[in-house]
Amino acid sequence: MSDLDAEKVLTAQQALDTQLSAWQRQIERCQALADLEQLRVDCLGKKGDLTEQLKQLGQLPPEQRPAQGALINQIKQQLQDSLQQRKLQLEMIALQQQLAAESIDVTLPGRLGFVGHAHPIRQTLERIQQFFLQAGFALRTGPEIEDSFHNFSALNIPDHHPARAMHDTFYVDSGYVNGKPDHLLRTHTSPVQIRTLLAEAPPLRCICPGRVYRCDSDLTHTPMFHQVEGLWVDRQVSFADLKGLLTEFLRWFFEVDLPVRLRPSYFPFTEPSAEVDLQCVHCRGKGCRVCGQTGWLEVLGCGMVHPNVLTACHLDPQQWSGLAFGLGVERFAMLYYGVTDLRHFFNNEMPFLAHF
Ligand code: PHE
Repeated sequence: MSDLDAEKVLTAQQALDTQLSAWQRQIERCQALADLEQLRVDCLGKKGDLTEQLKQLGQLPPEQRPAQGALINQIKQQLQDSLQQRKLQLEMIALQQQLAAESIDVTLPGRLGFVGHAHPIRQTLERIQQFFLQAGFALRTGPEIEDSFHNFSALNIPDHHPARAMHDTFYVDSGYVNGKPDHLLRTHTSPVQIRTLLAEAPPLRCICPGRVYRCDSDLTHTPMFHQVEGLWVDRQVSFADLKGLLTEFLRWFFEVDLPVRLRPSYFPFTEPSAEVDLQCVHCRGKGCRVCGQTGWLEVLGCGMVHPNVLTACHLDPQQWSGLAFGLGVERFAMLYYGVTDLRHFFNNEMPFLAHF
């Protein structure tokens, strides 16, 4: 290479160096990956500045070409390194920004999950059970689809007895006895008492909680409701035991020391029979909407087990006596919580249920 040629290459190198510094400054100032890519295309792309210069190598005298070519390739390499370095920096910044945006504040208080609780009817049922279990009664349950023997006949309600009409029975027409439907949805839990008396030898004390069904629906009745019935059979159970037990129960349940009265009544399976009234827990006897202005709340049915029932369960009425009672759990829940429309309990609306 002549001195002149060498000088030309030198000036070309200076020119390229200056250009490289200018590009590198632009690269440094680049704030976005897209801008950086644009810069790369402008320099090194098919129509980029440097690419153009490589293409023009052919126009140089042959002896200058190798040195100039090597120079351009060297610049190209440096440019590529700078671009790559800045690209990594920008990617890191973007990642840090993304992490900052996605960060969670672990010191924020947590959102409490919804904690459920037992349905008010279930709570009332358990409260009733609690008293009688403590009084030495055992829990007994039975089928909800009954036959007419356990639901009626053994309870001294024979065929055609008008008392069968007192219960608005749902019949399940799977079994027929003498051409009549024999299976039904139990109308009370008394059949469980029959099953217990047939299966276990007295003396015994049991309560029979559960769902019962009657074809009835209004403000205070639903076709399905819950009962707890109790039975105590021993050698000498008396009416005084009955009155004492139920008075004690009502005062414990309603947490009040109010008068309790027994009114003569009729049930086919007890003799004598009585309705138990508690002085109104809301007006204390003055008369209000809850007690229908009478001052009294009718809360229980009860009586001494009828001799015919003991006989149906193969027990000698001369040797055994028993007391029995039955109550509606929904009625107790309404009185206890002061709810006037029974249907609220079965609508399954959370705002209502959450109160209990
Ligand atoms: N079985 C009666 C009813 O459902 C309630 C009751 C039980 C009454 C025991 C007296 C004795 O209405």
